[in-house]
Amino acid sequence: MAEKLYVFDTTLRDGEQVPGCKLNSIEKIEVARALEELGVDIIEAGFPISSPGDFQSVQDISKALTEPVICGLTRAVQKDIDVAVESLKYAKRKRIHTGIGTSYLHVYHKLMSTEEEVLERAVAAVKYAKKSVEDIEFYAEDAGRTDDEYLARVVEAVIAAGATVINIPDTTGYCLPAMFGAKIRYLKENVKGIDKAIISTHCHNDLGMATANTVTGVINGARQVEVTVNGIGERAGNTSLEEVVMTFKSHKDLNIDTSINTKKIHHVSRLVSSLMNMPVQPNKAIVGRNAFAHSSGIHQDGVLKKRENYEIIDPVVVGAHESSIVLTARSGRAALKHRLEVLGYSMDKEKLEEVYQRFLELADEKRDIGDEDLEFLMGDAEKEKVNIKLDLLQVVSGKDLLPVAVVKLDIGGKKYEASESGNGGIDAALKAAQAILNRDMQIHEVLIQTFTRSSAEIGKVHIQLRWEGKIYYGFGSHDDLITAAVEAFLDAVNKMAPVKATQPHYA
Ligand code: KIV
Ligand code: ZN
Repeated sequence: MAEKLYVFDTTLRDGEQVPGCKLNSIEKIEVARALEELGVDIIEAGFPISSPGDFQSVQDISKALTEPVICGLTRAVQKDIDVAVESLKYAKRKRIHTGIGTSYLHVYHKLMSTEEEVLERAVAAVKYAKKSVEDIEFYAEDAGRTDDEYLARVVEAVIAAGATVINIPDTTGYCLPAMFGAKIRYLKENVKGIDKAIISTHCHNDLGMATANTVTGVINGARQVEVTVNGIGERAGNTSLEEVVMTFKSHKDLNIDTSINTKKIHHVSRLVSSLMNMPVQPNKAIVGRNAFAHSSGIHQDGVLKKRENYEIIDPVVVGAHESSIVLTARSGRAALKHRLEVLGYSMDKEKLEEVYQRFLELADEKRDIGDEDLEFLMGDAEKEKVNIKLDLLQVVSGKDLLPVAVVKLDIGGKKYEASESGNGGIDAALKAAQAILNRDMQIHEVLIQTFTRSSAEIGKVHIQLRWEGKIYYGFGSHDDLITAAVEAFLDAVNKMAPVKATQPHYA
């Protein structure tokens, strides 16, 4: 039987500290409910003293959830603890997370204190919190850069004072995996009473090692991991929940498992990404758009022969769509043949070779090739496919003004125009384009990226449209973000089945 690893989710506390990620109280409850369904053991719901809003959401989440332990963060300060205790009043299971900086830098240059004084404050905070709540987690902030001997003294003292969980944060993301693992082992071997508490990891990703450090911490004796969905968090972020969970699921030999329902991972990732306005990088492990997409010919051939040749995780296990074979100029004959067979075309080697050569020519012109392009190649589709182009875009928006967009599209040389209002300039412009096309398609996802701090920088927009049960990807870039969005929309529309300019459904 595998040993249990407790998952402590801090998406709503460390994750929500990120500028631009602030959620309102309804959104926080939605995320908390999704985390409960995902099966996390502990939810750090906020830092109650930090603002009335944080206090309220810890209280709301305490009322709304039943399964996970609800945790409130505090400094080693009595007032913080009092407020956290009050905010957790309605929690069925509650935890106070209190602590103080222990590294030389934090002790002498942040707290302007001494090691003895900090140790006393740590013990006093734990004892004070213990009077109101049984489950007390202590964090030694900047433990990653704290001298091991001193850290061991602090940990021993707070366990004696009643701490049930000891959090060893690599606050600045400084540690290397071997260093962090050795630190946890040192505590396991040198702290009297360590077996009375659970050791927790809390790693930041400043050097891109948060997951590696967390996993090494667990291998060396930690039994709780502090994580966020999609790895969001201060600066470069925290350890990502999905990466740690899937690491232990994939390496059964480590004999450690979590209670996470992995099939919910993709759903929760998307929810957090969209509510917090934090796009997930396409190549992000487990939850990125390309995590299960194969584009090179050799890989496609291997995946088609046996998925495991190039995939260590079955996408279905994390709630993602099945592996996708993206047909590009780098795809081989095996991938093309497979896709054509799915579409109902079978052919001999000679015919395949001929289609493959035409496919390569088309793939050189287009970024990726969709089913309708293949049908076109096979001669079934309308030969003169009409490309829809943006001819004119005019948007009026501003404070207290209803955004209105006028869009003119060029469809096979004919011009069609519509105007719509919307929630913002992009919404209005896409609605106007949609009004012209008059197709029953839905926007599945919009990802907006700008890459520098300059307001003059190019905006890039990725869009996914759902039409007749299929998803179509589009991309647009322009120094005007709304134009980029309309270009992305049309890029996706142009990948759909060919249409004629004379079709009656245009506005
Ligand atoms: O990174 C950190 O040290 C923290 C503590 C407050 C646990 O977030
Ligand atoms: Zn942190």
